Amino acid sequence: MSYSYVSCLLLFTSLFSPYLNRLNATTAMNRRDMIKMAALGAGAMLIPNEAYSYFLDKPAFTKADFGPNFKWGVATAAYQIEGAYQEDGKGVSIWDTFSNKKKNIKTGENGNVACDFYHRYPEDIAMIKAMNMQVNRFSIAWTRILPNGTGEVNQKGIDFYHKIIDRTLELGLEPWITCYHWDLPQALQDKGGWANRESVEWFNNFVDIITKAYGDKVKNWMVLNEPMAFIGVGYLLGMHAPGYMSFKKFYAATHHAALAQAEGARVIRANVKDANVGTTFSCSAITPKTNAPKHIKAAAKMDALLNRLFIEPAVGMGYPLDGWSKLKGILKHVKEGDMEKLKFQYDFIGIQNYTRVMVKHSLWPPIIWANQVKPKKLVGPEDITDMGWEVYPEGIHQVLKKFAAYPGIDKIYVTENGAAFPDTVEAGQVHDTKRIQFFKDYLAQVLRAKKEGVNIQGYFVWTLMDNFEWAEGYMPRFGLVHVDFETQKRTMKDSGLWFKEFLK
Ligand code: FCB
Repeated sequence: MSYSYVSCLLLFTSLFSPYLNRLNATTAMNRRDMIKMAALGAGAMLIPNEAYSYFLDKPAFTKADFGPNFKWGVATAAYQIEGAYQEDGKGVSIWDTFSNKKKNIKTGENGNVACDFYHRYPEDIAMIKAMNMQVNRFSIAWTRILPNGTGEVNQKGIDFYHKIIDRTLELGLEPWITCYHWDLPQALQDKGGWANRESVEWFNNFVDIITKAYGDKVKNWMVLNEPMAFIGVGYLLGMHAPGYMSFKKFYAATHHAALAQAEGARVIRANVKDANVGTTFSCSAITPKTNAPKHIKAAAKMDALLNRLFIEPAVGMGYPLDGWSKLKGILKHVKEGDMEKLKFQYDFIGIQNYTRVMVKHSLWPPIIWANQVKPKKLVGPEDITDMGWEVYPEGIHQVLKKFAAYPGIDKIYVTENGAAFPDTVEAGQVHDTKRIQFFKDYLAQVLRAKKEGVNIQGYFVWTLMDNFEWAEGYMPRFGLVHVDFETQKRTMKDSGLWFKEFLK
């Protein structure tokens, strides 16, 4: 291992700690295909009123405070829930490849079966309705549509998402589609993936096909899910698919994903009449350890990388080299006319927030001279989720204000927010009080930002049900619905019931 390889790894292990402070989980789950869920409809999962009376301690706000047009929903991603990884002509994605190498996933698990949503979708979508939500945000697996990434279209894949959309509409819910939630076709990875400039064309072609297929029925579209996460963790840290640790690839992949972010949006706008076009960003409040200039400078570098890297080129500001000069490596990949192509006037942006990052100046790791102050040094264990992420509700207020202040930002949706806690089923119930408190506290901050004038139009919970949490496997449970991965039994958690009451 060369020095630069090692330092790069150490550097970014600390940088991306929101994605990396993952707890070890040892449960290897052998899931079988089993019990068909009996008429899962809404009612089947409800627990008696008295059982959840303890959470009727009402929040200080009501649904009405968010306004009559505010949209409430849940978000999922294809690879995390669908399973059926070799069914009906689906091709291999980078996550199929990555998760089937045991060492890559903390628990040694994979997404081959996941929640088996592919077969259970009618009941699963009904659970969204049962919680009185309005929006079903989901992603399309590129490899179901184009098994080889380009070329021949797989009709069965097209049909599958028609069924998802139709079921969603039939229940009176709105389908919101994410075009890309991290599962690039392996065939395209073999040609370099996002580090190859052709990825922009491959992606445009995919978006062209799905928007033409579904554009009559679906009006709300998101181009990418968190480009910083799939490029940073996938190409620099090597902890997500495709598993590279390379500045060289990171620079190239960053520019191509940023181009795809805008070009894909143009394809949606051209193909879908009356489309509501957006894209989503991972973002965290960044706090310097103290007001000492050295800590402030360290925090600024982290901010450039974690928050500014993809939004700023999109709004015409270029890459945030002023925040961290090392990012100038991206410029090598910028061709004439590209800076214009990076811009797009989105109808909305999606904000995805979970935690905050406190930063200190540090002699280690080199290159960036910045490191994270571990959450456990800041707060007690009760404020840290199963991802090792600090619960920090003010953070969502801060990022909403920050992103709303960029030029040309119109509407904002919180397209993901949620928390993983160690839930257990007791007598058919899941008393996830911490999660309920999490939502009350984060929603209060969303409302605060809205009252201060940020045009927030909706809030989507991450996530509908416990699922395959990427490199962490099935251990972190983020769902409003508990999934027993042995039996595939679904149990609505108290937090799901809380939303049902709150949104009534
Ligand atoms: C986000 C991802 C989502 C899930 C949550 C916990 O960064 O978009 O798929 O992993 O984190």
